[in-house]
Amino acid sequence: MIVLDGKALSIKVLDRVKAKVENLSKTPHLAVILVGDDAASKIYVNNKRKAAERVGIKSTVIELDTLISESELLTLINELNSDADVTGILVQLPLPKHIDKNKVVEAISPKKDVDGFTPENVGKLAIGLEPYFYPATPQGIIMLLDEYKIPIEGADVVILGRSNIVGKPMAQMLLKRNATVTTCHSYTKNLEDKIKTADILISAVGKKIVRCKMVRNNSCIIDVGIFRDSNGKLTGDVDFDYMSQSAGYISPVPGGVGPMTIASLMYNASKVY
Ligand code: GUN
Repeated sequence: MIVLDGKALSIKVLDRVKAKVENLSKTPHLAVILVGDDAASKIYVNNKRKAAERVGIKSTVIELDTLISESELLTLINELNSDADVTGILVQLPLPKHIDKNKVVEAISPKKDVDGFTPENVGKLAIGLEPYFYPATPQGIIMLLDEYKIPIEGADVVILGRSNIVGKPMAQMLLKRNATVTTCHSYTKNLEDKIKTADILISAVGKKIVRCKMVRNNSCIIDVGIFRDSNGKLTGDVDFDYMSQSAGYISPVPGGVGPMTIASLMYNASKVY
């Protein structure tokens, strides 16, 4: 069994991004908007800020009060859209309930949408055109699969979870690479039968779901989940110790998909349109 070392690959990717940024005529500038005081979001935003600094990308974190109105937020995004110095805009999710997330994401210029969440970028990906940006987590997962030369073309891939951030773009990106994709969710029947067909299993559910004898021997397991268990230990969707007995490849938590997501986001933030 081989552990997919996302931490090590993320360092390689960040070094490549840093070298690229040094040779750009214009320094990329990422604007990160954080609304409210969600503890996890603060940590994520701080990690993004630190990664940007490391690779020489300018970043500005704009912290806004939870009570900011939707129209004030939309006005800010429009200002950033027309600010020639700002090359990337990221609105950290989730947003407070009184703000329509879709309206906010839609307001971001697709050429500055480093998350790849705007309808134009999502739509381009869906119809097989090149979006300005691919969503960071699925893109980081593909970098990890490619690094370890895990074949994607023709592979049977099972994705657990259908979020706009991971499950759906992951499926589109794997289809583009000629995988056969099954996307499972809370309404899926006979989940175990589907999981058993996977050459590559990608779990993005946020709870311990992949256990026991569910997977095929020598399959590749990618664990996107990250949360604290009842003992306060960081863990993922997959029972690592058990699965590592039968899996061929497995991504650990922490140290797998998490660092790759950040590196992949920095790769996006280094693109200037
Ligand atoms: N919240 C959780 N994941 C993400 C992400 O990838 N991008 C943004 N903007 N917010 C998130």
